[in-house]
Amino acid sequence: MEQSGDFIVFLGRFHPLFLHLPIGFLVLAVLLELASRTEKYAALKPAVGFTLLLGALSALVAAILGLMLAQDGGYSEDLLSIHKWLGIALVVFSFGAWILYVQKEKKQTATLKKAYVGSLALMMVLLGGAGHYGGSLTHGTTYLTQNMPNGLRKLVGLPVQEGPKLITNLNEAEVFSDIIHPILEMRCNSCHNASKKKGELQMHTVEALKKGGENGDVFVPGDPTKSMMIQRVHLPDVDEEHMPPKGKTQLTPEQIALLEWWIGEGAPFDKKVQEVAIAADIDAILQTLVDPNANKTEVEILLADDTSPPDGEKLNDFKSKGVMIKALSNNSNWLQVTIDKNLPVADLLSELSIAFPDQVTWLDLKETPITDATLAPISNFKNLTRLRLEKTAITDEAMSHLQGLNYLEFLNIYGSKVGNEGIEKLADLRNLRRLYAWESGVTAEGAKKLEEKMRQLEVNLGFEVQVLDSLTVNVLPVGLKD
Ligand code: HEC
Repeated sequence: MEQSGDFIVFLGRFHPLFLHLPIGFLVLAVLLELASRTEKYAALKPAVGFTLLLGALSALVAAILGLMLAQDGGYSEDLLSIHKWLGIALVVFSFGAWILYVQKEKKQTATLKKAYVGSLALMMVLLGGAGHYGGSLTHGTTYLTQNMPNGLRKLVGLPVQEGPKLITNLNEAEVFSDIIHPILEMRCNSCHNASKKKGELQMHTVEALKKGGENGDVFVPGDPTKSMMIQRVHLPDVDEEHMPPKGKTQLTPEQIALLEWWIGEGAPFDKKVQEVAIAADIDAILQTLVDPNANKTEVEILLADDTSPPDGEKLNDFKSKGVMIKALSNNSNWLQVTIDKNLPVADLLSELSIAFPDQVTWLDLKETPITDATLAPISNFKNLTRLRLEKTAITDEAMSHLQGLNYLEFLNIYGSKVGNEGIEKLADLRNLRRLYAWESGVTAEGAKKLEEKMRQLEVNLGFEVQVLDSLTVNVLPVGLKD
């Protein structure tokens, strides 16, 4: 750039600093105008004209500085043009408002007074508009709404924002759109986007990225070291051409490694991870992008997350009453509970449901004298995942108590009086995967009907269940086995 050009841009860069003066003066003029209409502040009236004039003059200077800054380039043409014309209109109308003020003070006609008030209102509208478009130019059009809470976003019809998207299936993930683009989005696109194209470079779409910047292509497929975007990332922080510029959040070494990997693999825009070569170090980085819960069931996620520790004293109390109660695994607060058929099951169940409503996740009530009515407290065990009710006298009605047990995964009702109508009540248990209903009232037809409604469910009516069950009783003392 020429020397004179540099100087104009140098002055122009004072625009963002200076523009707050006209905003302050013009808003103050309107406030003074309003205040001076009250008795208390009537004495302020003469100050209105003076403040208006200051506002108009400073708006003029801000507009001139703005036109100089526009020489700098790198702004979206459309936004810039709207901002420019709103700014120029603001200068015109603020001078207009001042002239009308002076005239109406002199002549005191009703028409002039009305025109004056109208010009003030229009001036405020223009001020708001110019300010808004100016903000969009420097910060991007989404600056204001970027951090809007999701509740409010829904209310005003903006798309709800999600956190950083983790990859569910790495092999199937798209190299560019799932791995590379999110990095550019996070660290580069604030300056290289639709409304702001620093260095004539946009990076928000594939086409824009392919097009490159003022110095041509920013990446050379297959050769990261020759690619401008990689070269600039590696420049020392203090270098003016270092990207992202000093003071902005920098790329991590892992993000840089991923960009280099992508370019090294030929900068593909439509390839999946499984279609490109992955060195061990890259694989290690990619693994960190995978959602650890991606292939887990809801129940696995629930149990992997520990629950609050059960009260030790209460635990011992139940143990002393003969209830078999212990941790689901070492270092876990989840409880597995077996109530023997000779214990007062109704009372114990009710006490347990008050003492450990969150912790009990496996419960064995087989062969106990539990009834439809005394089973009711079971609904308190919100985190129950396995329940054994085989060889009890429960009927269809008992199934109503299970309807809120959303984590229930295994249920054994074999040898009970539950029938087709009973199991239909389980249709909303989205995690129920196995239902053992051998020798109950459940028929093959009823089982099939439920299985059609619940795709994850398998109803077991056969002999093998009994064999498996009697085997597992010997293997696991708790006797709960899928
Ligand atoms: C804070 C704003 C900002 C951010 C964020 C930013 N850049 Fe830039 N970028 C600029 C400016 C300003 C220029 C033009 C001045 C220059 O050439 O240094 C530029 C120019 C470039 C150029 C040169 C284009 C050309 O043809 O000359 C490349 C390549 C580039 N940036 C890559 C990136 C990458 C990659 C990122 C993200 C890792 C990034 N930029 C993030 C402001 C930014």
